[in-house]
Amino acid sequence: MSAVIMDGKALGIKIRQSVKERALALKEKGIVPCLGVILVGDDPASLSYVKSKEKALAEAGMESRDIRLPESTSEEELLSIIDELNKDDKVHGILVQAPVPKHINEEKINDAVSPKKDVDCFHPESVGNMILGRRTFLPCTPHGVLELLREYNIPISGAHAVVVGRSNIVGKPLVNLLIRRQYNATVTLCHTGTKDLSYHTLQADILIAAAGSPCFIKPDMIKKGAVVIDVGINRVTDISEPKGYRLCGDVDPAVSLKASYYTPVPGGVGPMTIAMLLNNVIEAANTDCVNAVCVKAAY
Ligand code: GUN
Repeated sequence: MSAVIMDGKALGIKIRQSVKERALALKEKGIVPCLGVILVGDDPASLSYVKSKEKALAEAGMESRDIRLPESTSEEELLSIIDELNKDDKVHGILVQAPVPKHINEEKINDAVSPKKDVDCFHPESVGNMILGRRTFLPCTPHGVLELLREYNIPISGAHAVVVGRSNIVGKPLVNLLIRRQYNATVTLCHTGTKDLSYHTLQADILIAAAGSPCFIKPDMIKKGAVVIDVGINRVTDISEPKGYRLCGDVDPAVSLKASYYTPVPGGVGPMTIAMLLNNVIEAANTDCVNAVCVKAAY
C-alpha cells in the first residue's frame, strides 16, 4: 500500500487564512504587521524563497520591508541596517535570509537581530529560551514539521523519532522540540559522523530527513509503516526541465511505497515553513502578547 501524502500546501493555506483573519483584527487596532526581509547577494534559490515569503505576507494582509543588498555589502553595513530595523516600531519582525555571503560572519548577524523581532529563532537568546521551554518564537521549519504531524494525528508521544541532519536551522531545534513533554518523543540525531546510518533510520517510527543531500534516504533504510518527513529542498540539474533543474528532497520518492505517511517535495514541509513564519510575524505584532513574544499558536 502506498503512503498517505501529507499535504503541507493545504495545511499551509489553512494556517495562512487564520493568520490573515488575525492580521485584519490587528489592522482594526491600527497595527499593520510588518516583516523586514533582508537578502544579501543573488543566490537564485535564496531569492526564490524570499520572494515566496514576501508574496505570502502580502496575501495575508501584512507588509514586508524588502531589502535587497549586493553580494559586496560589508558586515558593518548589514549590521547597521539590522540596527535601524530593530529601532523601527513599524517593523515587528526581522528575517535575514541564510546563508549570508562568506565574508559576513553569520553569528554576528544572528546576534544583532533583537530577540523581540527574531521570528526565525536564530538569536542565541531565542534558542536558549526555546531549549528551556520559555516564551520565544518557535523556529519555522521545525514548528511546521510538528504542526504537520499534528494535522495528520500522528502519535508522537513515546514514538522513536530519528532526525538526520544537525543544522542550527532544522536538526538541532527539532530534536529539542520533540523531546518536550508536550511531544514526548524519544529522539536519535544522526549526522555525517554517524556509523551505519541505516541501523538508526530503520528504528524510526518517525524519520525526519534534513541533511541537504538529494534522495539519499532509500526504501531499504526505513521501517515498513514509518512516517517519513522530508525537509530537504535540493536543486538537481535536469536539462529536460525548462529551468534546467528540478527540486528534490532528501528522500527517494520510492519510499512512499513502504512508508505509512510521507511528505512530498515540493508541497510538504516547504509551505509549512512559510505559514509558521507568518504566524510568528503576527505574534510579534500582537502587542497583547507579553514582551510581544509568544509561544502558543492561536490558529
Ligand atoms: N535559509 C533557509 N531556511 C531559512 C529560514 O528558515 N530562515 C532564514 N532566515 N534563512 C533560511
